Amino acid sequence: MPRPSISLSRAIAAAVIAAAGRAHQQPAVQAQSASTLKDAFAGVFRVGAALNANQFTERDAKGAALVKAQFNTTTPENVLKWEVVHPQPTTYDFGQSDRYVAFGEANGMFIVGHTLVWHSQTPRWVFQDANGAPLTRDALLARMRDHIQTVVGRYKGRVKGWDVVNEALNEDGTMRRSPWLTIIGDDFIEKAFQYARDADPAAELYYNDYNLEAAAKRNGAAELVKRLKAKGIPIAAVGSQTHEKLYNTATAAKLDTTISVLGALGVKVNITELDVDVLPAATQNRTADVGVTAQQGMSAAVNPYANGLPDAVQQALARRYADLFSVFVKHRGTVDRVTFWGVGDGDSWLNNWPMRGRTNYPLLFDRQDAPKPAFDAVLQSARQVPNGRGR
Ligand code: G3I
Repeated sequence: MPRPSISLSRAIAAAVIAAAGRAHQQPAVQAQSASTLKDAFAGVFRVGAALNANQFTERDAKGAALVKAQFNTTTPENVLKWEVVHPQPTTYDFGQSDRYVAFGEANGMFIVGHTLVWHSQTPRWVFQDANGAPLTRDALLARMRDHIQTVVGRYKGRVKGWDVVNEALNEDGTMRRSPWLTIIGDDFIEKAFQYARDADPAAELYYNDYNLEAAAKRNGAAELVKRLKAKGIPIAAVGSQTHEKLYNTATAAKLDTTISVLGALGVKVNITELDVDVLPAATQNRTADVGVTAQQGMSAAVNPYANGLPDAVQQALARRYADLFSVFVKHRGTVDRVTFWGVGDGDSWLNNWPMRGRTNYPLLFDRQDAPKPAFDAVLQSARQVPNGRGR
């Protein structure tokens, strides 16, 4: 074959370099034209959702298809909680959790486990002996170890990260007086991490809580991280649940501070249960504590959007999500994952908390799993990320 002329070979080289350039810039170009959350934030952070059984069993085929299209990480909304996988002292039930993990593996997801040690959705028998009396410290430690080694051991190498301890702090940053604390003592957290580490040396281990935007609770979490790290406990990240309220606009700036403070301690800060409650407050309580419920009756005052969400509120929600994602993008490198607490508005726990039977709109997809203006606003925020992307 006659050798190509100098000018032709230069042209070919230039084209190759351009293509290479384009390939290298693929994420940025990808972000510019990306139509899915996982592609838009490729190389920045993972994006995921908490799944219910209808989604990971694909009984909700539309919901399952949306999850596969949009997300690259999953969290189980309920099926890996103590009351579900370990309902009786000698009974483990992995029926649902096996399907959750299988769905994640079949779809290339970064699979998260939620949650091993919590004060809620943990059966009363866990803390009692056969006569109903409180267990001793050692007996409860042995029960905790058995649970963690059985559950984490079963999914060793398959579940990549665990919410080892959930919601152990009060709003003022002190330790919540759960039976874990009152029976074992405040080293129950480090024990739980050690048992999880023994069960799967490769899994990422997390401490997870809500309202970490609040200064006192943020400081409590920071002290906890320092204490664990000082003892060589392998905490990889703090999970900020980030259950937001549309009317509470100050939290994006507070979250910015929280991610900076905790990130400076050498841990990642994951956004683990993101949603934005658009409804008026039904209680005075500002927490995400499921134990708190509204006492007042149902009325249009507390359930104003039963027949649809006004466009002005849709737009306010889109702006809220854009604010939050600009903070997450600012902290890429510290924020490893952003997980929504549910897929579509119809799936959200916020339709039944703190008052059952309300019509809420806290997520990016509506009750038909169609994208909302907030979805476009979040995609738009991915386009702010410079080429290098930088995770
Ligand atoms: O499974 C039973 C079903 O058999 C029974 O028919 C039905 C009757 O009400 O209840 C079902 O259990 C419900 C369970 O969700 C599964 O759907 C419980 O009543 C209900 O309380 C439970 O709510 C979950 C809540 O945690 C309980 O603590 C929500 O779905 C879940 O979104 C929520 O998630 C928590 C996180 O784990 C931790 N952070 C806060 C977040 C929101 O509260």
